[in-house]
Amino acid sequence: MREAESAITAQGVRKNYGGQPSGAGLNGFDLRVPAGSVCGLLGPNGAGKTTAVRILSTLLSMDAGRASVAGFDVRTQGRQVRERIGLVGQYAAVDEILTGRQNLVMFGRLNHLSAAAARRRADELLERFSLTEAAGRPVSGYSGGMRRRLDLAASLIVSPPVLFVDEPTTGLDPAARREVWAAVRELVDAGTTVLLTTQYLEEADRLADRISMLGAGRVVAEGSPDELKSAIGGDWIDLVLSEPVDVEAARPIAARLASGEPLVDGPARRIGIPVAERTRALIQVATALNEAGIEPEDIMLRRPTLDEVFLHLTGEGAATVPAGPARTGVRVNAGSGNTTEESR
Ligand SMILES: Nc1ncnc2c1ncn2[C@@H]1O[C@H](COP(=O)(O)OP(=O)(O)OP(=O)(O)O)[C@@H](O)[C@H]1O
Ligand SMILES: [Mg+2]
Repeated sequence: MREAESAITAQGVRKNYGGQPSGAGLNGFDLRVPAGSVCGLLGPNGAGKTTAVRILSTLLSMDAGRASVAGFDVRTQGRQVRERIGLVGQYAAVDEILTGRQNLVMFGRLNHLSAAAARRRADELLERFSLTEAAGRPVSGYSGGMRRRLDLAASLIVSPPVLFVDEPTTGLDPAARREVWAAVRELVDAGTTVLLTTQYLEEADRLADRISMLGAGRVVAEGSPDELKSAIGGDWIDLVLSEPVDVEAARPIAARLASGEPLVDGPARRIGIPVAERTRALIQVATALNEAGIEPEDIMLRRPTLDEVFLHLTGEGAATVPAGPARTGVRVNAGSGNTTEESR
């Protein structure tokens, strides 16, 4: 893809905060986000998500590398970049004492709208984020979800083509989280390119077209949620057995029918079996158990979770989640620093 079709690009971006252990910050960060899509930047605390957002939105300078947003160079064309982005920071930027409407009108005025235009825009956005009813109340009385939606609205006063959202739902309850997800979805449907950071795999799974997994300042894997889940070897059959003796009896069956190394958790009487062909494998496992006279307490077929993918790729879960071949489209960044692209 040419750079012009990418709303956001980053190549080899480095940032070392002075006095921090090496690795803190960004350490060769690469990214490419096609216009009109949602990219989820996923990583644990300290992975470098906020650093990446701050560099791409020109709030922080990089030590090395290149980056562009909406076709403009982040380093040399900061003003043009800032004119084309919205930023919803990790912490709420709205004023507690003002009402929802007053906040939005104020942001409109700060963005050089006339008083009348600012009021009009505020009302449009209040409507769009289902805040009309609460618009006249001070923000101090808003729920976390309402504040986050007001934050999103404030960043959209001038409809930027590219929006950065740093951890949109951290600290929100599930209902508020769903409200925010719906608001982000609406923006994307209206054509905005969104880069969102999150620690929640479910959030990336729901919202992102593609996910970049960030570990210690660099992207360790990139792909669609499905591709990432397939990257560690297709599906899993989980068996829960009634008796310890059944675990031993089921062990060789699992080994015979698995596409990789089965996981046996003796004390929990569980066996995880990685399988290549979902339905066929389920029938084979059920048949073999039946023939051996084993009646499992539970048997289920599932995809790997993004948590397992992330733990596996960052090495922390290497002992518990066996590797499988990567599928087309998934880029897995090996710890050595090489990017490999595998396919089957
Ligand atoms: N201003 C700063 N000065 C020194 N070190 C910093 C600064 N900001 C971040 N760091 C360090 O850089 C690393 C990446 O931080 P960053 O805030 O980008 O992570 P994050 O992925 O956003 O984490 P979180 O999920 O906690 O928000 C961390 O080790 C952090 O301690
Ligand atoms: Mg952060």
